[in-house]
Amino acid sequence: MKPVVQANGLRQVYKIRRGMFREPAQLQAVGGVSFAIEAGKTLAVVGESGCGKSTLARMVSLIEKPVGGELILDGTDAVHTPMADRRRLRQAVQLVFQNPYGSLNPRKKISAVLEAPLEINTSLSKAERAERARAMLAQVGLRPEYANRYPHMFSGGQRQRIAIARALMLNPKLLVADEPVSALDVSIQAQVLNLLADLQQQFRLAYLFISHDLSVVRHIAHEVLVMYLGHVMEQGPKAEIFERPAHPYTQALLASTPGVGPRDTKRIVLRGELPSPLNPPSGCVFSSRCPYAVERCRAERPLERVVGGTRLAACHFSEQFLDSGFPDVRAAAPLPASATADNAVLPG
Ligand SMILES: Nc1ncnc2c1ncn2[C@@H]1O[C@H](COP(=O)(O)OP(=O)(O)OP(=O)(O)O)[C@@H](O)[C@H]1O
Ligand SMILES: [Mg+2]
Repeated sequence: MKPVVQANGLRQVYKIRRGMFREPAQLQAVGGVSFAIEAGKTLAVVGESGCGKSTLARMVSLIEKPVGGELILDGTDAVHTPMADRRRLRQAVQLVFQNPYGSLNPRKKISAVLEAPLEINTSLSKAERAERARAMLAQVGLRPEYANRYPHMFSGGQRQRIAIARALMLNPKLLVADEPVSALDVSIQAQVLNLLADLQQQFRLAYLFISHDLSVVRHIAHEVLVMYLGHVMEQGPKAEIFERPAHPYTQALLASTPGVGPRDTKRIVLRGELPSPLNPPSGCVFSSRCPYAVERCRAERPLERVVGGTRLAACHFSEQFLDSGFPDVRAAAPLPASATADNAVLPG
């Protein structure tokens, strides 16, 4: 089956001004990310704050043009597309944000919010538009008569349902959701996640689901992509990533979220601070915090490659980690100057 969206090496760089007399610095927010999502499937993107999740979301939802790479949306090149096609593409992908308070205009009734996309993009009559809006409210679990109310009359969970309804008015194929439940109470989170799952089934929607919360991701994802400092560390089917991670960073994330990893998840203590994206470590970007890093890791960036069947990982030692698990190391131990890939502290 042809994927709804395919990204090949998507890259984004921001220029950071440093005053009048210095050249602007280059901040690589996303450094070459590739994935594909089929209809009816969810790819979840996880990683710490600043790793490039929202930047990726903005590129995929056509808000920002990537500086490099390829984006194929619904069979069409979305980066070099002529204006005429852009409009169709913009309807095919819709975005839902974290903050349902900020994303709804407080002065507009819900009916106006939901009908606006139809007014701009279709030739439906006023009565038809109103009917569609009421039907969509029912779809997202709200009463159709709520169309006459204003956003402030709703709870956070209800507002997020309205934002989802608005995103679906033009029958998109891909929904990009950037932390869509992070601002909601845990009990409400589950309801909104269930709604998203129902809508996905019903409309065969593809989701790019951004979250820093692994317990949310475990609930909703089919595939998982783990990012660190703009690079993919590991990606593959959810069960594989959660049950048998092949990258130390994935392992560390799982260990820091109680109840999501395998029962015997070994705790990996990361060294030091998150490096600045303006000055990323050489070699593997994770090497400055990885307890298993050896000289090779700082010299040579591991390319993403297939390990253990169906997943991709970007670590020189993923095969060993998959075979024998993550060994004990003293997190604070300094790197031995003589360590190489061959005599590293690794299992086997
Ligand atoms: N418009 C911009 N101009 C300059 N730098 C930016 C811009 N947008 C993002 N960045 C930088 O790019 C990097 C990635 O940011 P991004 O917002 O994509 O991260 P994120 O993973 O979404 O983080 P969070 O979990 O905090 O939302 C960060 O270092 C950020 O400071
Ligand atoms: Mg973000």
